[in-house]
Amino acid sequence: MTASRERRAPEALHVLVIGGGIAGLTAALHAHEAGHRVEVVVKDALGDGATALAQGGIAGVYDADADGVADSPAAHAADTLTAGAGLSDPTAVDVLVGEAPARIAELVARGVPFDRDPQGRLLRGLEAAHSAARIAHAGGDATGAAISAALVRAVRDAGVAAHEHTMLVDLLVSDGAVRGARLLAAGRIVDVSADAVILATGGAGRLFRHTTAPAVCTGDGIAAALRAGAAVADLEFVQFHPTILAAPGPAFLISEAVRGEGAILVDDDGHRFAFDAHPDGELAPRDVVTRAVVRRAREQGGPVRLDATGLCRREGWNAERLARRFPTIDRVTRERGFDWAHRPIPVTPAAHYLMGGVATDADGRTTLPGLYAVGETARTGVHGANRLASNSLLEGAVFGARAAAALDTPWIRTSSEDAQRDEEDSAAAFPGPFSRPALQELMWDLVGPLRTVEGLERALATVRSWSPPEGLTRAAVEDRNLLQVAEAMIAAALARPVSVGAHHLEPSPALIGV
Ligand code: SIN
Repeated sequence: MTASRERRAPEALHVLVIGGGIAGLTAALHAHEAGHRVEVVVKDALGDGATALAQGGIAGVYDADADGVADSPAAHAADTLTAGAGLSDPTAVDVLVGEAPARIAELVARGVPFDRDPQGRLLRGLEAAHSAARIAHAGGDATGAAISAALVRAVRDAGVAAHEHTMLVDLLVSDGAVRGARLLAAGRIVDVSADAVILATGGAGRLFRHTTAPAVCTGDGIAAALRAGAAVADLEFVQFHPTILAAPGPAFLISEAVRGEGAILVDDDGHRFAFDAHPDGELAPRDVVTRAVVRRAREQGGPVRLDATGLCRREGWNAERLARRFPTIDRVTRERGFDWAHRPIPVTPAAHYLMGGVATDADGRTTLPGLYAVGETARTGVHGANRLASNSLLEGAVFGARAAAALDTPWIRTSSEDAQRDEEDSAAAFPGPFSRPALQELMWDLVGPLRTVEGLERALATVRSWSPPEGLTRAAVEDRNLLQVAEAMIAAALARPVSVGAHHLEPSPALIGV
């Protein structure tokens, strides 16, 4: 299908941006600066969401020549493609790395206080599967918070209308195009028409019992897009971050940048097991490290440990320097009773990022005219089967800006063949009614870092046996969205019968020993 929608360039459009992370706010600011009438809709307060939690930083090659650094966009692209396990779209990757310097410069101009050396050059961190240190960071390990604060300030200063505590319920579709959105605000349903809707609601981390995703990440944009008939792709690719503090309380991520600085993973015998799985050890692609951590933890019957004590013994380093480089991690681990400068800390994986999402072209256009998707909600093709560390803030900035720039261009997009649907019915395998914790448990157990075909089949049968919760409360809408995305995700996983990147199938018990 080819759909077209003529737009005249000088005309200001009414644009609804649903979501307030780096992708949504960049899109909103660019659309506003281009003269469009923009309204931002966020489920909680502006700035709440995954962006503000990002620790490591934003990947990108900038000022490499001026700073005498051996790095290039081509090397960044090559690392991104390698991490993506052959399933990234090279054209989208070229766009991503090529526009990194401009978007990082924009963030600097909007007031993000990136960390700098005494000469004023941006400091560059190293993370797993990067061939060079190219991660710009702020506040040590508080990059997302700094970016979020700067963008929220810019949106408020620009006078862009922001509707907080307002939730997307559905997209308004007529004549095959998206014409606005149905919203839930203060218990009331409101239909808002718009020339374009940009989905930037983040991922669906709340599908899983263990996740780094904040409470707002319930797959709202992806579920609404599915109901509206937009194509989705790569939903089977969920990234599990290997090093979340294994301790009671909310999931707390220990940044890969800590391993980039030299921290190591050890088992109960003090063995550095990551090298058994990959020659790059702790800095292997994230999916590889995650599986190594899960397997070792299962074998020894308890969590493995992240050992950062060696950093403090390096020349010029000590506990104070560790705390300065990673102030958030230092504070939170101490609050939870750990002295990470002197003793290894227990870590375990958690769902962290969804590589798939609403299928888009390189300008954020989905298969439905009038509907754009950016950030974690979108499947732009840059991540393939496994996202390279710190490429997500970059993706949000790059494709948020591009979607805004594409708003008043003619709509020409060929619909994707990637839409994933599987209408087969089968019997329930888990007893008991639907509840969010039951869904999260099921997804963690059967759709986590190590999957089996049998487990996926049981998971699919179960989610299909559950009746979607009714009602128009925020919780009921979120639960329906989670259930819908879960079904699409499991069906996508079953449709890919081979292991690749973050989608890993253990041998079926029936085949072991054959
Ligand atoms: C981290 O700091 O380890 C997370 C960075 C990312 O997910 O890109």
